[in-house]
Formats: sequence, C-alpha cells, structure tokens
Amino acid sequence: MSLTNAPDPAIRQAVVQQDLENVLHPIIQHKALESRQIVVTGAEGSTIYDADGTAYLDAMAGLWCVNIGYGRAELAGVAAEQLRQLAYFPHTSMNVPAAALAEKINGLLGGGYHTYFVNSGSEANEAGFKIARQYMKHEHPGHYRFKTVSRYFSYHGTTLATLDAGGMGERKAKFEPFSGDFVHVAPPYCYRCPFGLDYPSCGMACVRNLETTILGEGPETIAEVVIEPIMSGVGVAVPPDEYLPEVEKLCRKYGILLHVDEVINGFGRTGKMFGHQHYDVAPDIIAIAKGISSAYLPIAATVVKNSVFDSFYGEVSENRQVGQVNTYGGHPVAAAVAVRNIEILEAENLAERAADVGAYLLDGLRGLMEHQAVGDVRGKGLLLGIELVKDRAAKEPVGPDAITAVVNFCRDNGVLVGRSTGGRRYGNTITLSPPLVITRSECDRIVETLDRALSTVELG
Ligand SMILES: Cc1ncc(COP(=O)(O)O)c(C=O)c1O
Repeated sequence: MSLTNAPDPAIRQAVVQQDLENVLHPIIQHKALESRQIVVTGAEGSTIYDADGTAYLDAMAGLWCVNIGYGRAELAGVAAEQLRQLAYFPHTSMNVPAAALAEKINGLLGGGYHTYFVNSGSEANEAGFKIARQYMKHEHPGHYRFKTVSRYFSYHGTTLATLDAGGMGERKAKFEPFSGDFVHVAPPYCYRCPFGLDYPSCGMACVRNLETTILGEGPETIAEVVIEPIMSGVGVAVPPDEYLPEVEKLCRKYGILLHVDEVINGFGRTGKMFGHQHYDVAPDIIAIAKGISSAYLPIAATVVKNSVFDSFYGEVSENRQVGQVNTYGGHPVAAAVAVRNIEILEAENLAERAADVGAYLLDGLRGLMEHQAVGDVRGKGLLLGIELVKDRAAKEPVGPDAITAVVNFCRDNGVLVGRSTGGRRYGNTITLSPPLVITRSECDRIVETLDRALSTVELG
C-alpha cells in the first residue's frame, strides 16, 4: 500500500484501519484515535498534509524539533549518498560524518568540548547522568557523589532515570517507585513564583533554595545539577537573566557539574544557537537532540567540556573510558544529515531569524491579552507560551477540558498548537515552537486562530 500526497479517501481509510489494528501509540488515547486522526503523508516548510488533502500549519515543528522546516530534499540526497558509502559501523571505530559533526558542534560551542553520540534526547541526558557519576568516581575516589539535582516541572526524557530527573509528578505516577537519586528544587517559573515573590525583589529565592538543597543533601553526595535553560514543558518559563549564571556559580563553589539540557533549546530555537549562550555560562555537560538533525533522522549527543573529557583519558589499565555503548551512536547516515542540517541553519541564519520572527510573533500574541483568560504571554525566539487562567488576578489555571478545546479548535481550523505538560495542575499553557523558517504571515495566522479560539471556546 502506498500513499502519495494526492488525497485518496479509500487508501486513507485502509491505513487508519491497519494502524488501529496494529499500532500502539504514545500518549494519545486509542479511543480518541478511532474518531479523529491525522494521517500525515507529506510536508513542506511549516505545513503538513493529511492523506485527505487537509493542510495544517505546524506551530509545534512536530515535537519541537523540525527546526529547518519540512521538505528539504537535499537531505534525502545526503542520506542516500552516505548509505551507499557506509551505512553503519559501531562507534568504537571512527567514521567520517560523525567526526565532522563533532567538530561542527565543538565549533558552535566556541571550542573546548568532545561529543558522545546517542540517539534521542532521553539517552543524551541519561548518558549525562552516568558521565557525571563516573567523573566523580574518577575525581573523588572513595567518595560517592551520585545525586542529580533537577527542578520541579522540568522534563528530561522518558527513560526511568530521565523521568525521575523530571519534575512532573503526574507523568511519573504510573511508573513509581523511582531510585531516589534525583533531588528536586523549585524552578524559576516567575509567573507562578514558588515562593510567592516578584522579580527582582525576590533576591533570586530559587537560587537560594538550590543552595539550601545542596547543603542539606551534602555537596559531597551531589554529582551534577541538570537545567533546561528555558524550561519548555511547564509552558515555556524564561528565567531572569542572572538565574543560570548564579546556578553556575553555585556549581563551581561546591564542585558540582553543570549539565544543561539543550534538547529543545538548542540549534537556534531560542534565537541563539544554544539556550545557555544567552547567559554566558560554560556548562560541563550538554544534552542535544531534536534540532541537531531537525528530526530528519534520529541522532542526539552528550557533549562534555574538555575538563570532563580529560577525566576519561588515560592508560587502558586505568579503566577510565566511557562505561557504556549505544549500538547506533555516531550513526554515519544520521551524522551526515545532521552536518548538512547545521550547515543549513548557519547558511540561512535561522537562529537570528528565530530571534527576529519570534519577537514579531510574541508581539502579536501579546495582543491576545485583551482576552481575560490570557494570564501571561512569554517566550524567547520561537519558543513561546500563552498561559490561560480562569481569572487573571487569582491566576487559577483553566481546566484540562478548556485547554483541550482551544488546541482542538486550532487543529480544526488548520493550525497545530501544543500545550504544556506541567501535570494536571499546570497543563494550562498553549505552547508554540514552529519551524524556524515560519513566515510572518504564518505567524499572523497563528495569532488570528488563537484569537478566534479564545473568543469561541468556553474557558470558565
Ligand atoms: C527538554 C527535553 N529533554 C529531553 C527530552 C527527551 O527527548 P527524546 O524524546 O528525544 O528522548 C525532551 C523531549 O521532548 C525534552 O523536551
């Protein structure tokens, strides 16, 4: 059975049948899929096409990942050429595209880093936790520095450890209990400051909370702190500018590694190549995925500062090498595609474009504040959130049915928007993370569709 972009209701129906009888989908309830599905058969720029011919403006770039936009045929050529040349060999050896990609990443970071390749954002963070622990064993023999400090409402992946690192109780509930190696602190979610304070008079209470936690746990038990520079999952929480530098200072003070999760923030999304580059910090460990290849092929990486790399360097007899392997790590075809993807990001100045078009979109979204249900509009680059509340003064979140109705209204009007996953309580933010090639007129369409949704949907 083959589907082209030409609408064909009979073939579409057959695919839906085949899928419902054979596929187990993530997150979405199958019962819902029985009545409403999108069968994606093609995509171009920021638009995806259903087999029935319906076009949707994808304001989420898939899952926050198709940074260069859909339909870049040249990447098919790169993949085909590399498949013919060398499809695969384990990364205990070397290959041409992976070496080139690591060099490219090192250059984007200003030098001083080595890259360990994996296949997904979860694996990139998971490898980061393990590298931090192993580093501490090398550097502090006889000590046991194993804990990771992370933030409530964060998301770092779907494996047991990354889920444990995440701070969304509802996402974790089905899989408890966890190891307890992850300690959580309050996030810099300023619209709902966990301390009930306002910036800047808060004195960065969230950073003081982090220091109290480090001291309470005992710095000698902590390997690293993991931070997504701009928290996406909670509904895009942009921290005060001094937050990340202050966290870095604490890490240096207590000999703790700073692990930054750039899985969504990276590769131009926030208006710079990496989110942490807004804040002039030098992380020890950086998890990258998604935009590294704009999801044209699965590839991800854990990038480590040379001071960490040096700890893994020594005589064979010292047994300092990285203590894990991923079969597909450094996959030559995915690496070749990622290199060309980054070349496109650079040649088309897509990070700068994200800053520019993102500011335009943010401005348009601020106009939605005329709806009483819009409590907050925020973002950086093309990573944005519109938080919906029942009452602006009380900031009571709208319920799950209301936010679902807004998302569905937009979808039924041809625009795919996302929503926060901050658990049942804070799942009340519409999220936007479109391809970095989105045009201003497409941004206007997102704003206009949300405007109609907010006027139409019962939000009370
Ligand atoms: C911030 C962050 N980290 C890690 C991940 C996990 O990435 P993956 O789904 O590729 O495993 C995600 C996924 O959305 C993410 O948003």
